[in-house]
Amino acid sequence: MDDLRQKYIGAIADAADEPALEELRLQAVGKKGEVSLMMRELGKMTPDERQEMGPKLNALKDEINSALAAKKAALADAALNERLRAEWLDVTLPGRPRRQGTIHPVSQVTDEITAIFADMGFSVAEGPQIESDWFNFDALNIPPEHPARQEHDTFFMSRAEGDDRPPHVLRTHTSPVQIRAMQETGAPIRVIAPGRVYRCDYDQTHTPMFHQVEGLAIGRDISMANLKWVLEEFCRAFFEVEGVELRFRASHFPFTEPSAEVDIRCSWAGGSLKIGEGDDWLEILGSGMVHPKVLKAGGIDPDQWQGFAFGMGIDRLAMLKYGIPDLRAFFDSDLRWLRHYGFSALDVPTLQGGLSV
Ligand code: DAH
Repeated sequence: MDDLRQKYIGAIADAADEPALEELRLQAVGKKGEVSLMMRELGKMTPDERQEMGPKLNALKDEINSALAAKKAALADAALNERLRAEWLDVTLPGRPRRQGTIHPVSQVTDEITAIFADMGFSVAEGPQIESDWFNFDALNIPPEHPARQEHDTFFMSRAEGDDRPPHVLRTHTSPVQIRAMQETGAPIRVIAPGRVYRCDYDQTHTPMFHQVEGLAIGRDISMANLKWVLEEFCRAFFEVEGVELRFRASHFPFTEPSAEVDIRCSWAGGSLKIGEGDDWLEILGSGMVHPKVLKAGGIDPDQWQGFAFGMGIDRLAMLKYGIPDLRAFFDSDLRWLRHYGFSALDVPTLQGGLSV
């Protein structure tokens, strides 16, 4: 029995894999295995011999079985480790999709705008697309009877029957984010707020959902001069032309005083748009000095603080910069359009690396 023990315990420890282990199991404790055959011999023994040999054989069988189980577990562990090693995968590697998707021009232009303003110290603020009447209008100095309310082609959310409070609206501009940002941060503040806005309008240059970016800078002595510099700097970087020329035209917005609409010099010669040359002017944004009432609504003391705001259409900037003729196609999800006008996912716009290479 000692020979058997030595033979099998040693062989089990040395078994290279599961099939070899199974072979050993059959040889030792299988139906016709050596230990099993010896157990059968017990019947032929005298009671005394059986008394002595029985427990010993059982112990041997147990010992071999536990050695088999332990080795089996060890082999399984080793196999798993080997698999983990062989199938190791670097999940931080970039994907290799079979068909490369593209970045939508609106996302691309939003990233470009964000990169330019981030470089000038602006951070990004956000607000909800379903906005209260107060944030969308009142806080921006557009009281209920103000004519500007009609001009906004507002989508209204419905209230429950019998609820007389003013309905929420789909925000008609990104300007309410000015109020939210002021309330959250206080002064001084420098933010842009890109996002979706909604108006009930549809033709070649209007869609019911479109994108705007709001800008807000409040400080002790921020002036129109700062506004002019920031916007010129932005246009130079965004359109990637040194000689941009802007024209500030007196205008009116309820939330700014004074207000200015800004045009950019351009040429349509030969049917294609060139920014920075020619004799035409193209309106690109609205802006002004933030109205004291708007500062107050944002929780900021107008006797202590002042600043500028501006708002422009992201989709329109995308159309101008990338020569895209019809706004409606932006939101048609036509794959041919997306492949043609989309941008590579790996070219993240930065000021150093280039905005739109
Ligand atoms: N909210 C205006 C609109 O949607 C755009 C605008 C004009 C925003 C002037 C401003 C501003 O912040 O100062 O038409």
